[in-house]
Amino acid sequence: MKLKDLYSFLKKDLQQIEDQLVQSVSSDQPLIQTAGMELLKAGGKRIRPLFVLLSAQFGTYNIHLIKKPAAALELIHMASLVHDDVVDDADMRRGRKTVKAKYDNKVAMYTGDYIFASALKLMTDINIPRAHQILAQGMKEMCLGEIEQINEQFDTDQNVRKYFKRIKRKTALLIALSCQLGAITSMADASLQKKLYEFGYCVGMAFQITDDILDFTASEKQLGKPAGSDLKQGNITLPVLITINKHPEIKDKLNLYYESKDSVLLAELLKDMKQLGGIESASRISEKYLNRAKLAASSLPETDARDSLLKVADFIAGRKF
Ligand code: IPE
Ligand code: IPE
Ligand code: MG
Ligand code: MG
Repeated sequence: MKLKDLYSFLKKDLQQIEDQLVQSVSSDQPLIQTAGMELLKAGGKRIRPLFVLLSAQFGTYNIHLIKKPAAALELIHMASLVHDDVVDDADMRRGRKTVKAKYDNKVAMYTGDYIFASALKLMTDINIPRAHQILAQGMKEMCLGEIEQINEQFDTDQNVRKYFKRIKRKTALLIALSCQLGAITSMADASLQKKLYEFGYCVGMAFQITDDILDFTASEKQLGKPAGSDLKQGNITLPVLITINKHPEIKDKLNLYYESKDSVLLAELLKDMKQLGGIESASRISEKYLNRAKLAASSLPETDARDSLLKVADFIAGRKF
């Protein structure tokens, strides 16, 4: 099943968000214009705006208003990816060359900043100080998550706790915020705002763990970038940490690979990850978060929006690419 089948009842509204995104990244400056439009055209799942819209259904739903934070959340996500590809030295994203590969790091830096600023501008239509506070705090946390990832890059001694803290900041928070801001902007009850935040947080954790698993199990075509990129880039994820815990000798092999960059060792390590059970254990943890998300969603009022949230949650954690 495709994601779009799940939210067909929001199709028109999601199109409004696409239009808003185009308007927001447009610029008279040709380089920014081209880089921004290419990013948009490359697609992406648009799950953050989707969560904003679905969560807004628990309050007073007004697409003309809600499309602003919905597009803003996608822009923040896009900007963070442009910067992330600099940090990770990644050449491919969404099946295309990254901004940093097509141009250079300097252009990527300002393209990302421009998109961030576009998000802030959109948010000025929202007259709720708390929404701005929450978003600003979330963006600060995301930066901390990315900085931590740089510090912890290639560190084979890190523990699982550090991993969870990192993915909370770099991924789960933005998804939690999407749900929370949808609810806040539409003036949903405070108790619903809280439940939607919890739902988004748990879905976000499951989503990132699944993403980290797919980096080992999916094909380059499915991922839109080479498989095994995380390990190569020194991003030590849950399947690796679990494998190292159970099989300490794998840590030595990994350290040896990072010293030598020997591609034969990399291939062996990728095989080890698949064979030593770390992926299955990571999947079980992802499933636990998914179940927690479903529990939070099931305490929401019984509506089409709630059904869709549950379906999107299943799609996201069970996705194959
Ligand atoms: C990619 O996010 C980065 C992560 C937080 C895992 P998405 O998987 O939502 O990226 P797009 O927008 O669909 O490309
Ligand atoms: C996602 O991190 C980027 C942010 C959330 C800022 P990753 O580096 O793990 O994701 P991909 O693999 O590049 O999409
Ligand atoms: Mg990264
Ligand atoms: Mg990356």
